[in-house]
Amino acid sequence: MMNVAVIGTGYVGLVTGVVLSEIGHTVTCIDIDEKKVEIMQKGKSPIYEPGLEDLLVKNISKNRLAFTTNHKKAFEKSEIIFIAVGTPQSESGAADLKYIKQAAKDIAQYITNDTVVVVKSTVPVGTNDLVENIIKQELKLDVKVEVVSNPEFLREGHAIHDTFHGDRIVIGSDKEKPGDKIEALFTPLKLPIVRTNRRSAEMIKYAANAFLAVKISYINQIANLCEKLDADVNAVAEGIGMDSRIGRAFLNAGLGYGGSCFPKDTEALAFLAKEYNTSLNIVDAAIQANSNQSEIFTQKIIDRFKGNVQGKSFAILGLAFKPNTDDLREAPALKIIEKLLSLGAKVKVYDPIVQHLNEYQAGVLEHCQSIQECMDNVDATLLVTEWDEFIENDWKELRKYPNQPLLFDGRNILPTDKLVKLGWQVEGIGQAQKRKSVEVI
Ligand code: UDX
Repeated sequence: MMNVAVIGTGYVGLVTGVVLSEIGHTVTCIDIDEKKVEIMQKGKSPIYEPGLEDLLVKNISKNRLAFTTNHKKAFEKSEIIFIAVGTPQSESGAADLKYIKQAAKDIAQYITNDTVVVVKSTVPVGTNDLVENIIKQELKLDVKVEVVSNPEFLREGHAIHDTFHGDRIVIGSDKEKPGDKIEALFTPLKLPIVRTNRRSAEMIKYAANAFLAVKISYINQIANLCEKLDADVNAVAEGIGMDSRIGRAFLNAGLGYGGSCFPKDTEALAFLAKEYNTSLNIVDAAIQANSNQSEIFTQKIIDRFKGNVQGKSFAILGLAFKPNTDDLREAPALKIIEKLLSLGAKVKVYDPIVQHLNEYQAGVLEHCQSIQECMDNVDATLLVTEWDEFIENDWKELRKYPNQPLLFDGRNILPTDKLVKLGWQVEGIGQAQKRKSVEVI
């Protein structure tokens, strides 16, 4: 078992630290945010992630997991240091590497023994070289440092599950020995390992995320065409998804992708291609299609109100960019709400987990504590995030709350036929006309 330090306790860093401790390693997680560190020391997770807190508590109590703001202390015994800091999008679309560079400098300043540095953050191709150069330039002592790329593929909301049951672990090392060490670190997970060089590993992460983003944008555009042609995108997704060369996953038409990864990573990859004067316009198109998707949905609603939603009230069910997370980054709900508000509509929102809206939203939105409260007296209901609570609700009982039984299903997740029988008028995304039951009012 090995001694490991993890810099950065966001989704990726915290989950990595907790899982490595769970498989027996001794892990110290570092964050500059003192309050956050205090919370984690008490066994509380600063993010909503199913299963994370239990493992946090368990491994702290077994003395395999600790949190600190002190790099020096954390690096004292570490033979492996993970960099899992954020790489936010800068104005140009490129990934901003300031936290990565700082982490490299901190490593150079405080390590006292030979170390394998593992870059887990999603970084542009060539960043592992940059990290190595910074560390070598700024190193204080005569110790050996190797840098290995190990991109992360976990999904928010399924982070623990994905780390234990991932499809693969990618290890990019230009030398054999440090790669072997990281492979040994992950051996207890018993997952398939892909060994390659650093630049290929860095590219694998971007290429995977951009491919999935393209897949989503593709089915969303097919859905928009289905609507015009009286076809049903759900049936199309099933039909094409059964072709093993295509696969059914990530073919759910909806409001487009959000979150902290796909929007940022597609932009960063598109930026890289432009920087190297190489066409990657398939990714540009996916980005554009994604931006259009929530606008098309909102326009559909406005059209149903004959172009005037002033004074009409809407229930927004779900704020998070997807279920099982409280993450609002790039959430389609925000764009939809903004548009409706700008047209003078009243907006009520409910999300099972999201409790804090930003100041602007908090002032103008009615933030409800239950689905019933949210739907009370509204002119239409918009399902924006496919939380189980919405899917499994008693839609017969819910029918009594809104002024009108208008339901726009932005995730194609509700049983339309059943709901229509209960008196609802339902419109999904890319549904055949015969199943479309929302009437012009
Ligand atoms: C994603 C990748 O899946 C993960 O491998 C990577 O490490 C980080 O980015 P995440 O952003 O947590 O993970 O969410 P994911 O479940 O992949 O969904 C991303 C977005 O795509 C969501 O907004 C989701 O609603 C949307 N989506 C997903 C669709 O619109 N349709 C689909 O069929 C699948």
